Amino acid sequence: MKIFADTAIVDEIKKCVSWGLCDGVTTNPSLIMKSGRKFEEVVTEITQIVDGPISAEVVSLDAEGMIKEARPLSKIHKNIVIKIPMTLEGIKAVKVLEKEGIRCNVTLVFSANQALLAAKAGASYVSPFVGRLDDIGQDGMQLIEEIMAVFSNYGFKTEVIVASVRHPIHVKQAAMLGAHICTIPFKVIEQLSKHSLTDMGIKKFLDDWDKAKK
Ligand code: G3P
Repeated sequence: MKIFADTAIVDEIKKCVSWGLCDGVTTNPSLIMKSGRKFEEVVTEITQIVDGPISAEVVSLDAEGMIKEARPLSKIHKNIVIKIPMTLEGIKAVKVLEKEGIRCNVTLVFSANQALLAAKAGASYVSPFVGRLDDIGQDGMQLIEEIMAVFSNYGFKTEVIVASVRHPIHVKQAAMLGAHICTIPFKVIEQLSKHSLTDMGIKKFLDDWDKAKK
């Protein structure tokens, strides 16, 4: 499973790259706002740091506007993927952009039918938001299971990016379901490596090593 950094904070991305844990990056308007930097500027900088797909989101609501935003954005770097909201206008834009060779990531997906439409439009990626479904008392990971089954039934090439990840259990479940990609906030990427028994084990080995030297 590929790991993407779900952040627009460059220092976090640099750390993930240094650990070899950054196959790509996803941003959205909220993450750009959190970074406190200008959209094009920060996205351009990320392209210099990460050699993998980097999602940059459009904000227009009509297909024509989305396409107009997407074309110059895609010219920033070959790795830019255009994030398009899951609407009928979005699907229309995806068809045009993918035909032009501009890869799209259909975002804000909350049902298997939405994912099916995105795949039929030829989207390179689809982003179901598991955490936001959990938040309203639905089962986010069940959606991933459904989408993986639908895509495998028809051999769609669209890759599933498990998004809105809140904790390491989401990541484990995504991997167990065979999701192609999990986009993960920095804090959760750090958590993946941790276990209290690992820390206790290291401490014990070092204590014993000190004793062995005496
Ligand atoms: O990529 C964006 C998505 O992961 C949003 O996450 O935590 O705002 O639901 P969240």
